[in-house]
Amino acid sequence: TQNIRPLVLGNWKMHGSLAGNGQLLSAIRSAWNQSSGAAACDVGVCVPFPYLSQTESALTDSDIAWGAQDISVHAQGAYTGEVAGPMLAEFGCRYVLVGHSERRAMHGETSELVAAKAQAALAVGITPVVCVGETLAERDAGRTLDVIAEQLAPVLALGSQAVGAMVLAYEPVWAIGTGKTASPEQAQEVHAAIRARLAQAGSPGVRVLYGGSVKAANAASLFAMQDIDGGLIGGAALQAEEFLRIAEAG
Ligand code: G3P
Repeated sequence: TQNIRPLVLGNWKMHGSLAGNGQLLSAIRSAWNQSSGAAACDVGVCVPFPYLSQTESALTDSDIAWGAQDISVHAQGAYTGEVAGPMLAEFGCRYVLVGHSERRAMHGETSELVAAKAQAALAVGITPVVCVGETLAERDAGRTLDVIAEQLAPVLALGSQAVGAMVLAYEPVWAIGTGKTASPEQAQEVHAAIRARLAQAGSPGVRVLYGGSVKAANAASLFAMQDIDGGLIGGAALQAEEFLRIAEAG
């Protein structure tokens, strides 16, 4: 972290219920308000679409932002099942995840589509969190940095003004939900490569988060690395105390 304000974002994925969310949101809100952490780190939660309204009510006027996990490339129209950027904006979303590996793998999202989604978010003033990462087979084949470069290319082609308004997240697919975290050195190597590309694109100050089995026990050593500017947290974001301890490491 080099003079870049860290960000710790929870990705709830397809978890939650009205009752459970109510408890989780009020627990993190009150704890984070009392913590000194908010002075040093931004925090947010990306929730399933139906809970945006609940999340907005629970977190308005707090130091915790919120957002969604996907966005349509279209602003409105006959796109059954899609959710548009202007709708997310109406519910106060500050962030939206784009290109999470689960969407790339299970919904066939290409890097070109991911770039278009990032652009759709920027068009309504929402910060896209662009996720990239290699599979284990790609890592074992020595292709990690090439894969990341391919995933980044259409995003960086949007230009430095667009890129400067984004957040990036490096999530090695083999570390997601597996309990196998990348070592701080493994993560740093990729983050440094991403930083170099960002610098080439004229946006060296963009935040690059690490995601993949981040827990309170390993967050501080990851976040201490030069080019890791916080985390994108899955499972551990569903427990208030664990999530808060990760945010405090940011
Ligand atoms: O987007 C966050 C994520 O994919 C990491 O999940 O459960 O390994 O922290 P988890």
